[in-house]
Amino acid sequence: MYQCCLSCPLGTLTSEFHLTSDVLIELIPCQNHTVEVVEGVSEDVKCAPLLFKDDFLSEQYFGENQPASIMTEQIHFGEGMHRRAFRTKLVGGMQPTFTAGHPCVLKVHNVVSQGTKKNEDLIHKNYNLAAEECYVQNTAREYIKAYTSVAKTTEEFGEVPEIIPIFLVHRPSNDIPYATLEEELMGDFVKYSVKDGKEINLTRRDSEAGQKCCAFQHWVYHNTEGNLLVTDMQGVGMKLTDVGIATPKKGYKGFKGNCATSFIDQFKALHQCNKFCELLGLKSIQPSLSKPKRTATAPKPKPQPQAKKKPFVFNLKSKS
Ligand SMILES: Nc1ncnc2c1ncn2[C@@H]1O[C@H](COP(=O)(O)OP(=O)(O)O)[C@@H](O)[C@H]1O
Ligand SMILES: [Mg+2]
Ligand SMILES: [Zn+2]
Repeated sequence: MYQCCLSCPLGTLTSEFHLTSDVLIELIPCQNHTVEVVEGVSEDVKCAPLLFKDDFLSEQYFGENQPASIMTEQIHFGEGMHRRAFRTKLVGGMQPTFTAGHPCVLKVHNVVSQGTKKNEDLIHKNYNLAAEECYVQNTAREYIKAYTSVAKTTEEFGEVPEIIPIFLVHRPSNDIPYATLEEELMGDFVKYSVKDGKEINLTRRDSEAGQKCCAFQHWVYHNTEGNLLVTDMQGVGMKLTDVGIATPKKGYKGFKGNCATSFIDQFKALHQCNKFCELLGLKSIQPSLSKPKRTATAPKPKPQPQAKKKPFVFNLKSKS
């Protein structure tokens, strides 16, 4: 299916044309919009946001299903450890969250990539995996909202990273009926190291976003008394997606993460505080090295004034 841009009055041109330059020229009549070629499959879906009550860790529920039409490319463009990512365009619905034509990403878990073939257990698994992604990412989003309101009180902090929301998608006409939907992030997609926030790729570039992600991890770790770690920070610049959460095995205040508890120990051992941790008054997680013993002749050091900065304690129950 080829179409001019979505706001063009010509609308969708279902066509048997092959994409020769002639066809492209024929598709140019719209003067206001550039011609866009979308090859994909249209389907009607229902999308549900994850909503929270006062206690966002334990009181989470899916909101009303919103009808939407999407057109999804048949070949995935991204692949991670667990899921394949397909470019999709919102043809209608989901307003005002997205405008028509908004570039989005539909993610399908690999466990069910062969289809569910109407098998109840597989459908269940498919639902649970998609729902879990929504719980994890949207919960991390609530934490980063709280972090943002604290960071904003320190002028020098500057821009704060955002974790984008994801929606649960029901695709009644598809053999893999559950997936997630989110906006497409444009630009260099990178993962940030838990240790120092550097990009995890060959360039190992240092970035403000990466450092602010690490400070965010430290802030959440501190405010949950070491019980919850937002991990796997990745995305484009200040916009993040596909983060993970690690908690103790039994969970934390009714919430269970999707990453191994050992991620928390790893963070504790590796995290290096940066200037953004300092701006928030966070103290180093590693135990301080034991002081060298003074010799009998060495002069007694003068008592140093105590550092005034207190770590911020944010009441995570008060939603921003
Ligand atoms: N919102 C997005 N915008 C642009 N590219 C994305 C987006 N989400 C994921 N990708 C790309 O798709 C890949 C796989 O998606 P991801 O969510 O990381 O899957 P997994 O859960 O398997 O790690 C990513 O590594 C990235 O290259
Ligand atoms: Mg990933
Ligand atoms: Zn730190």
